[in-house]
Amino acid sequence: MQSRIIGTGACVPDDVLTNEAIERLVDTSDEWIVSRTGIRERRRTGGTEASSDLAYKAARYALRDAGVKAGEVDLVLVATTTPDMLLPSTACIVQDRLGLKNVPAFDLSAACTGFIYGLSTADAFIRSGAYGTILLIGVDTLTKFTDYGDRTTCVIFGDGAGAVVVKAIREKRGVIGSMLYADGDKWDYIYVPAGGSRIPSYAADKTTWYLRMKGHDTFKVAVRGLEQAIIGLLERYRVPIEDIDIVIPHQANVRIIEALTRKLGYPPEKVFVNIQKYGNTSAASIPIALDEAVRQGRIKSGDTVLLTAFGSGLTWGASLIKW
Ligand code: UT7
Repeated sequence: MQSRIIGTGACVPDDVLTNEAIERLVDTSDEWIVSRTGIRERRRTGGTEASSDLAYKAARYALRDAGVKAGEVDLVLVATTTPDMLLPSTACIVQDRLGLKNVPAFDLSAACTGFIYGLSTADAFIRSGAYGTILLIGVDTLTKFTDYGDRTTCVIFGDGAGAVVVKAIREKRGVIGSMLYADGDKWDYIYVPAGGSRIPSYAADKTTWYLRMKGHDTFKVAVRGLEQAIIGLLERYRVPIEDIDIVIPHQANVRIIEALTRKLGYPPEKVFVNIQKYGNTSAASIPIALDEAVRQGRIKSGDTVLLTAFGSGLTWGASLIKW
């Protein structure tokens, strides 16, 4: 059995937060943000709008695209670090909204690498024969944990969700394989101190409830990690880099993507970039980009597609797909 992505979908909130709007909040400029990150605008959830609201819509689009009825799904996987609440899982909330009964559902936490961890998990479940049709969603609403007084983080993040339907097939195509990595030693490179068991939300204050990031250190490790994941993956599956038709990287910073492309000696025009519109949407960035690439005709049947991501944990990884 192989697993194949048979449908994609995405959803971002309506509210657009431009660089000009951020200029009014902190000491920054559109010029700085564009030249240092590639971001021009991002989307932001408002009020009580939560991750499951975006996840549900992205899931509906992916199911429709796949031509699969919600009732045919036999596992719901949600990659997120910004669940609606501490418990239950956002996957259970999405499962309920889709009207699914008695179908397992769970969240998986690997921050910006969540979609790669999720795809690898879905692929393993399918290869084992445990499940046949898996709904995999990457969703994050990090703007809810962003300090709009901190210019080093507030320019980066946006909210969104992307979903795929992964189906068991008996063909030599689909997910070829994935490589996953983690380095917990660097857990404090990107983290939100409060809201868990160490500093419960009732004990949080303005110094602990927002995301903290060692941006510059993360940048350097990210380029090395992504290169390691890609080279490791291509070696394991004996695929020369020239055979890759498109790379869909996590959209964290356009300079990370450009540095990686240069190091690999890979043609930049074959790397998909949409960070200018959405910023860094964490676990949603790859499935949103994948959905756009498919819709723009950038991915055709038979193409070899490489996905790669890096994020808090630290975690990183890559997946290879024969589309
Ligand atoms: O999702 C995966 C995980 N996250 C990442 O991959 C993030 C990776 N890191 C980055 O994207 C970049 O490090 C940032 C965009 C966060 C920062 O860019 P940088 O080029 O690494 O800047 P820096 O942190 O080295 O700071 C350089 C200067 C500093 O000023 P001084 O100390 O040189 O006077 C910062 O205070 O830029 C300043 N700065 C800003 N200036 C204007 C930092 N943020 C801003 C800002 N506007 N928004």
